[in-house]
Order: sequence, then C-alpha cells, then structure tokens
Amino acid sequence: MDDRTFVIIGSNGQLGRALQQKYPNAVGVDSDKLDITNAEAVNNFDWSNVKVIFNAAAYTNVDGAESDGGKTTAWDVNRNGVKNLAEIATAHDITLVHISTEYVFDGTKSPHNEDEPISPLSEYGKSKAAGDEQAGRVPKHYIIRTSWVIGDGKNFVRTMLAVGKKGISPVVVADQIGRLTFTSELVRAIDHLLSREVPYGTYNVSNGGELASWADITRAIFKDAGFDDLKVTDTTTGEYFADKPQAAKRPLESTLALDKIEATGFKPRDWQEDLRKYVEKELA
Ligand SMILES: NC(=O)c1ccc[n+]([C@@H]2O[C@H](COP(=O)([O-])OP(=O)(O)OC[C@H]3O[C@@H](n4cnc5c(N)ncnc54)[C@H](OP(=O)(O)O)[C@@H]3O)[C@@H](O)[C@H]2O)c1
Repeated sequence: MDDRTFVIIGSNGQLGRALQQKYPNAVGVDSDKLDITNAEAVNNFDWSNVKVIFNAAAYTNVDGAESDGGKTTAWDVNRNGVKNLAEIATAHDITLVHISTEYVFDGTKSPHNEDEPISPLSEYGKSKAAGDEQAGRVPKHYIIRTSWVIGDGKNFVRTMLAVGKKGISPVVVADQIGRLTFTSELVRAIDHLLSREVPYGTYNVSNGGELASWADITRAIFKDAGFDDLKVTDTTTGEYFADKPQAAKRPLESTLALDKIEATGFKPRDWQEDLRKYVEKELA
C-alpha cells in the first residue's frame, strides 16, 4: 500500500495522530485545513490519486453535544461532514475508513456485535449513528466501531494520571463496563483490514483482555504508575451524574464483540499490556 495515496481527515486528533505516525507520507488535514462540514471545500480538495480516506474527524464532546450549540455542531460534523466525505469517496471510487462508537447503542446488551440494531441514548450517539449510515452507502467502506479510545490527546488515562499526581484519591464509576482501545491497536486493526483486503463492512475494534469498569481501570493505572497510597472508591453512574443534569446518558455496557475481526486473523492485544506501556511512556 502506497501511503502517498492516503488522506487522513482530523489528523490532529488522537486517532489522526496515530494514523499519521503509521503512514508518514499520507496527506494529513485537520479542521483548519479542511473543514468537512464545508461541502464546497470538500469538493474542491484535490482527490485525484487518492485511494483511501481515513475519517478520524468527529465532534467528540459527548456532554457538549447535549447543549443547543453543541448539538448543532455534533450533527454538522458527525453526520453532514461524513455525508460530504461519503459522496466524494463514492464519486472517486475511494475507500472510506470511518470510525464509529458503541454510543450508537443503549448499552443494555453485552457484548455488542456488528449487527445489533442501533439505539443511541445521547445526541452524540445519534449524530454518530447518522454518520455511520452515510459512510455505509459508500461501495468501498470500512466502519470501525470502537470504544474508550486512548492515544495522544485528552483521554481518561491522562486525566487519572493527573489526578494521581496531585495525590487525589478519586471516586470512579464502577457500573460502566468495557475495554480500552489504544490508538496503536486501532491503527494496527485498520492496517490489517486494508492490507489483507478483508471484505468491506463494519468491524468492531478494541483491545482484548478482561472486561473492566472505569474504577477497575483507574486501579490498574494507579498500580502501573506506582500511586500505591491512593485509593479508588467505586460509585454508580447514577450517583456520579446526579448533580450534572446536562451530562449525556451513557451506555452501561460498552464491550464490543471481537469475533468478527478475530475471524479475519487479527489478534487483539490485552488492554492491560498496552496500558502498562502507555503509563510508562507518560511518566518517562
Ligand atoms: N475518544 C473516544 O473515547 C472514542 C470512543 C469511541 C469512538 N470514538 C471515535 O473515534 C474517532 C476518533 O476519536 P478521537 O478520540 O481521535 O477524537 P479527537 O481526539 O477528539 O479528534 C477529533 C478530531 O476531529 C477534528 N475535527 C472536528 N471537527 C472537524 C471538522 N469540522 N472538520 C475536520 N476536522 C474536524 C478535530 O479538530 P479540531 O481540534 O481542530 O476541532 C480533532 O482533531 C471519532 O470518530 C470518535 O467519534 C472515540
């Protein structure tokens, strides 16, 4: 695969950065260079010789999307922006790699498989589901459904490392269950699908390993970081968000079934192994 024929949209986000690292010759654009909500700008972009578009761009502020302004932006980026890219991909016979989320589900089933009917609880989830529908219309598409993404950017592990460094013993939600997805693993799975020419469609991707709650993950972070004198106390989603009425509703079950991608020969790495390496690098 010649990465000079790749375009990474949202190249400054967590996944965008990891994709650019893997494909150094790909053309990377962030919102300042190409705003995907601007149909004219998307149409005027030079798509000649492009073989793959990676859409790593999204409005990812889950709680922000519940406000009036945030909702408009979420729909504009997560649905209309994807529509603009999907039309270009179709017109130019380009493969579109698009990223989805378990927030398209209400989290009552576990694990989520690729053909579970959508049932979003939040505006973010609804806008992402509408984007998936657009991406799914492209003849050559991969929709990668992922959860709890950790890379170079704002994320849960960095937040908890900052909490621990301040010597704070946090109270953390213990009834949302899932597995982390490191961007290195997400990129490895995407590269696997593309390089092996696995049939187009929707694929779940997360790290493998034991299911865990955010509180369990925090304990693992603190263990890896050596914050041995700090204690993590469990709470429920209901209690945690009781005084945050503007917060989006979250699915309690975030676990993604990995059988489909495993059947293509991909072996997901254990999240605890990747967490150890991540924490070590963050503290170096
Ligand atoms: N983070 C998670 O836990 C999680 C979980 C499940 C699925 N996902 C999905 O995984 C994908 C990657 O997430 P991430 O964590 O890497 O996101 P991220 O770090 O928030 O990055 C998103 C990127 O999109 C760009 N962007 C926003 N609006 C844009 C626009 N109108 N035109 C072009 N670019 C725009 C942002 O640029 P600016 O900063 O300039 O606005 C930013 O660089 C997203 O599709 C997300 O929905 C994420």
